[in-house]
Amino acid sequence: MVDNMPRESTKAPRHPRIAVVWSVLSAEIERFAAGTGATMRILDVGGGSGGFAVPLAELGHDVTVVEPSANALASLRQRAADAGVTDRLTAVQADADELPDVAEPASADLVLCHNVLEMVDYPDTALDALAKTCAPGGAVSVLVANRIAAVLGKALSGQFATALDLLADVDGVAEGRDTLKRRFETATLTALVGGSGLVTEQVHGVGVVGDLVQVPENAAGEALREFELATAARVPFRDMATRIHLLARKPMR
Ligand SMILES: C[S@@+](CC[C@H](N)C(=O)[O-])C[C@H]1O[C@@H](n2cnc3c(N)ncnc32)[C@H](O)[C@@H]1O
Repeated sequence: MVDNMPRESTKAPRHPRIAVVWSVLSAEIERFAAGTGATMRILDVGGGSGGFAVPLAELGHDVTVVEPSANALASLRQRAADAGVTDRLTAVQADADELPDVAEPASADLVLCHNVLEMVDYPDTALDALAKTCAPGGAVSVLVANRIAAVLGKALSGQFATALDLLADVDGVAEGRDTLKRRFETATLTALVGGSGLVTEQVHGVGVVGDLVQVPENAAGEALREFELATAARVPFRDMATRIHLLARKPMR
């Protein structure tokens, strides 16, 4: 596993909370461009209203969003129209389980699954489907909620009973009171991804402190951004962040 510090990109969105994810995606885009020079085919599973998909289309890539919510898809279409990228964005109403029916095998150079594995019924089945859709040599970008951060967050706000419940539960959820079906840790996520035949190349923490503090819009916002980028790959900061981002590659054969 390569555990490098992410690079900055001038074109991607600069918000401190997601700077790390964009730096990894930007590097993957550059890597692809250096190899084939072609526009990337990007699949965003559970892409919601296009928080990642629309900026990627704005960068010139062909993006397909597979998303079960009709409301989210309506917002996505509006957002794409506002950004002038309707011709580069395809919206498909389906969930991750239906991926084999709506996307061809090996049809995407980059597959995104951000903030979705926490809510699907079977994350291993979903990851198998993502891996199948990814072209050999392509990458899969996974972003998930980190159970360690959830435990710490509850404890820091004085909710010790809930913190202990999250700590004790095998899926890192508070039974009956949680909006998510599960949270992950770095090791469990890496193992899950490996089970689908993907090779983890990078793991970063997203929101080491960015979700705990108010994000300022001035120079202090830039300083926070710098802090997030500097700590994202460094243990133990990485493993305490609100979310875990993993970039995995599909072997050529
Ligand atoms: C928290 S949002 C994340 C949206 C986007 N990926 C992002 O990171 O900005 C989760 C999205 O997953 C979608 N979703 C829920 N269950 C899903 C499933 N089984 N398969 C695919 N998407 C699902 C929801 O409709 C929602 O749009």
